[in-house]
Amino acid sequence: MNASPLMLDGNRLATEIRAELRQKVQESGASPCLAAILVGNDGGSESYVTHKMNDCAEVGFQSRLIRFPESVSEAELLQAIEGLNQDDGVHGFIVQLPLPKGISNQTIIGAIAPEKDVDGFHPENMGRLTLGLPGFVAATPWGIMELLRRNQISVSGKHVVVIGRSNIVGTPLSILMSRPGADATVTLTHSKTQNLKDICLQADVIVAALGIPGFLRADMVSDGTVVIDVGTTRVPDSSHPRGWRLKGDVAFEEVAPKCSAITPVPGGVGPMTRIGLLMNTWTAYENSVRI
Ligand code: GUN
Repeated sequence: MNASPLMLDGNRLATEIRAELRQKVQESGASPCLAAILVGNDGGSESYVTHKMNDCAEVGFQSRLIRFPESVSEAELLQAIEGLNQDDGVHGFIVQLPLPKGISNQTIIGAIAPEKDVDGFHPENMGRLTLGLPGFVAATPWGIMELLRRNQISVSGKHVVVIGRSNIVGTPLSILMSRPGADATVTLTHSKTQNLKDICLQADVIVAALGIPGFLRADMVSDGTVVIDVGTTRVPDSSHPRGWRLKGDVAFEEVAPKCSAITPVPGGVGPMTRIGLLMNTWTAYENSVRI
């Protein structure tokens, strides 16, 4: 029992990294530009994209928001993507997910020029990540690695259990963690995994990224484990003025006392994810001026 775990404070780190980036932008006189395509009016997507645009302003990047109604066709989206691919004033762009039914994520993501794919979702960037080649790494896996690195938590030789195999978090993170340099032994678990509790009890590090609030309970965690919570589900909360609050995938109150380190929700992985996108946009800009 470790009564007071190290709190992995993503807010503090993100503020630090934003300041570093702002200084780099100012000193270089650079003007990187991030664009975002937002379809429909989903509250979560609206708020994520607003944060991304505000983050750009804070570090001195330009940003552009391109909105489409829920009724947009795949062809119209592909046309907008081609426009951004060709636009030298835009260094990187994202298409906020999820997209409406009837529009193929893979078709849309596949149409983004890999050198502007600052989400790191394009098959070429996923392939580069897998092979250890330079390319864009998705923001959340990057943020988790950076959060650990800046807290001097090494995963080398450790058993990392990732819960959830999504294309944007669990799968790329499991690959990153197991690459030379990170050197973790990774178990990637998912909804069909048997004996998940036993596997979690053998972990040195658990990453909960399945999107089920409060899923990871105290009886699944051994003393001294590092726990990373990627969950950000909006749950109703009448005591909050906006009527909801963010809840992670970890039952924080009961799990935290067993951990050597843990991320809070909010304020852990989320702010680091936002930094990941800024870093990729900076890299896209640097690559574009180098060419
Ligand atoms: N929806 C949820 N997370 C993300 C993200 O990181 N990028 C995009 N484009 N959409 C998302």
